[in-house]
Parts: sequence; C-alpha cells; structure tokens
Amino acid sequence: MTYRTILSTLVGIALFGTLAANANAAEYMIVDGTIPDSLTGKPGDAANGKKLAINRKKGNCLACHVMPIPEEQFHGEVGPDISDVGSHFTEAELRLRLVDPKVLNPDTIMPAFLKPGTHDVLKKFDGKTILGEQDIEDVIAYLMTLKGQYSQ
Ligand code: HEC
Repeated sequence: MTYRTILSTLVGIALFGTLAANANAAEYMIVDGTIPDSLTGKPGDAANGKKLAINRKKGNCLACHVMPIPEEQFHGEVGPDISDVGSHFTEAELRLRLVDPKVLNPDTIMPAFLKPGTHDVLKKFDGKTILGEQDIEDVIAYLMTLKGQYSQ
C-alpha cells in the first residue's frame, strides 16, 4: 500500500466512525438558540432532576454552579449562580443549554450532556452521552422550579 492509500483508508475509517456515532444521536431541532420540543414527549420529573443535578457521575452541576441545595457542600463558582434560573429562562432555552451549550458558546467549559463523546481520554465513554433524553427533561423540570435567590 502506498502512503496515500493508507491515508485515505484512515480518513475513511474516521469518517465512518463519525457517521456511525451520529446514527445513534438524539434528534432535535435548534430554533433561535432554543430546542422548542421535548426530547421524549413525556413531562420531566423534577425530583429525579434534582438527584441527577447532584449526582457527581451524572449532572454534577454543583461542581460549577451554586444551587439551592443546602444539604450538599462545596458548590462551585466556575459557572453563574443558577438558583434563580427558572425565572430567567424558558424550558426551550434550558434544553439547548443542557443538550449542547457549545452551540451558544463554543468556548464554554460546560459539558454537552446529550452529545455522544469522542473521548480520547476514556474509551468507555466513546459514543455515549452523559445524560439520557429523559434525564435532560427531568433536569429541566427541576430547573424550572428554581425561582428565588439563594445564598449559601
Ligand atoms: C464544568 C463546569 C460546569 C458544569 C459541570 C455545568 N455547568 Fe452550567 N455553566 C457553566 C458555565 C461556565 C456557564 C456559563 C456560560 C458559558 O460558559 O457559556 C454555564 C451556564 C449554565 C446555564 C446558563 C445560566 C446563565 O445564567 O446564563 C445553565 C442554566 C446551566 N449552566 C445549567 C447547568 C446544569 C443544570 C448543569 C448540570 C446538569 C450544569 N450547568 C453543569 C459550567 C458548568
């Protein structure tokens, strides 16, 4: 094989990998900085959303955000305080911020919770998303209940 053939084979494999991952990806439509439609068509469960927000292996939102969850210590301050987000955002706006915040700010360090990972770091996360579609709806339902300032 020439160098060129090897190269194009490698590019082909990489491309196929991307297409295969996309085939499993969730389908949603982005409209004006929002995802208007529910990902599942089922109402979110706010109580479960709160658990997912706290869970270090799931949302882990507290690593970066202050939230009205006094029973948990050490809220991060890398991101804005979101203890009042329910008053400032619609569900549709929150949905895009959780699914893929990089659409709004390509440099953000906030994770895209519904984008299949192409992790060089951890192979086991390849092609997997951090949260599932119903998880996202549950977290949105919880965030919509956050309507008041909170100080730690
Ligand atoms: C690694 C840090 C990190 C994690 C984890 C994280 N975020 Fe964020 N988040 C940010 C940063 C930084 C911003 C600021 C916006 C930006 O960077 O574009 C942000 C912005 C937001 C906003 C918009 C708030 C505003 O006032 O503009 C919401 C809502 C939000 N995050 C919710 C969440 C939720 C819910 C979770 C958990 C499921 C979460 N974030 C996890 C870092 C994080």
